[in-house]
Amino acid sequence: MSKEEILELLRTVRHPARQDRDIVDLGMVHSIEGSTVTLAFPKRRDPLAEYLIGATRAALIRGGVKDPKVETVVVDEAAPRKKGVEFDTECLRHVRHIIGVASGKGGVGKSTVAVNLACALARLGHRVGLADADVYGPSVPLMTGTEGQQPLAEEVDGKELMVPLEKYGVKWMSIGYFAERGQALIWRGPMASNALKQMILQVEWGLLDFLLVDMPPGTGDIHISLLQDIPMEGAILVTTPQEVALADVEKGANMFRNKNIDRPIFGLVENMAWFTPEAHPDEKYYIFGKDGGERMAESLGIELLGRIPLVQGIRESGDAGEPVALGTRPDAQAFLALASRLAEKLG
Ligand SMILES: Nc1ncnc2c1ncn2[C@@H]1O[C@H](COP(=O)(O)OP(=O)(O)O)[C@@H](O)[C@H]1O
Ligand SMILES: [Mg+2]
Repeated sequence: MSKEEILELLRTVRHPARQDRDIVDLGMVHSIEGSTVTLAFPKRRDPLAEYLIGATRAALIRGGVKDPKVETVVVDEAAPRKKGVEFDTECLRHVRHIIGVASGKGGVGKSTVAVNLACALARLGHRVGLADADVYGPSVPLMTGTEGQQPLAEEVDGKELMVPLEKYGVKWMSIGYFAERGQALIWRGPMASNALKQMILQVEWGLLDFLLVDMPPGTGDIHISLLQDIPMEGAILVTTPQEVALADVEKGANMFRNKNIDRPIFGLVENMAWFTPEAHPDEKYYIFGKDGGERMAESLGIELLGRIPLVQGIRESGDAGEPVALGTRPDAQAFLALASRLAEKLG
């Protein structure tokens, strides 16, 4: 593929914090050698650097470039960027509690719980932020109705930070705000974890009582790397009540109890604890078995912090971008109770 053709592909990569101009137009393409593209960054770290590296690689792959490489240089130092990105935790200085919301596997309602818990904590008067760290399937933009909006970059004390979006009294940040609709980014392991660290460590969070981190599902390297670099105080685990889910929750718990990580687990949230039909709000059907969450919490030696029912309205409000925890439906109570228990526990 010719340089010109590659340049055309690079024109599809836009910088969301620079009026959506493309990286060629912005003069960020330093060189093209075969299938290696080198991007130039200013000395000051760009909060979207990792995102742009991933997006560039994705554009090259989509355009048919085999095994492309994306490298970086710092322009005003003429020295290559340090290998392995270094992060500092300055922007978390005024955040009181940083709590991971984790699950052993996907689809158990981790994001639903995280988003509603954030709204419920805010409703109780706490200052709350939520970082969507699920780089592979960010769902916060959809669940909060903030899709299509873009956080701005701002210079704070000589550093460039992203300003989180604010809605429902919560500060939201997600890599989903930068990726184009329907175009999944093609991440490799370290790239993904650097990108998501930027979504937490290069954000102007300001003063917060709680910062929830919606962790990616599962228990892989990306989680360990995240736990090593983000000063998370501890975590809550989300599960469904079936017997077979226990093994996954155990995996989740072991990740935090691993001797190199060693963070407390504040408790378990049993999602889809029972089913309640919309038309019969007083009825409870224990379709996944009764008290599964209770037994799991006991066997893991942690508290059962809350039980959330399976109701159509929770899914519908998630899809509509208006979390149930904001409303007056009975299911909002389950999230408010969870929020007050967590806040009480953490003092
Ligand atoms: N308690 C619940 N009642 C009804 N639907 C739910 C509930 N919890 C989650 N869902 C739905 O299940 C799907 C998966 O939930 P999600 O929060 O995205 O899971 P995860 O983040 O663990 O992958 C979503 O469509 C969500 O709306
Ligand atoms: Mg999710």
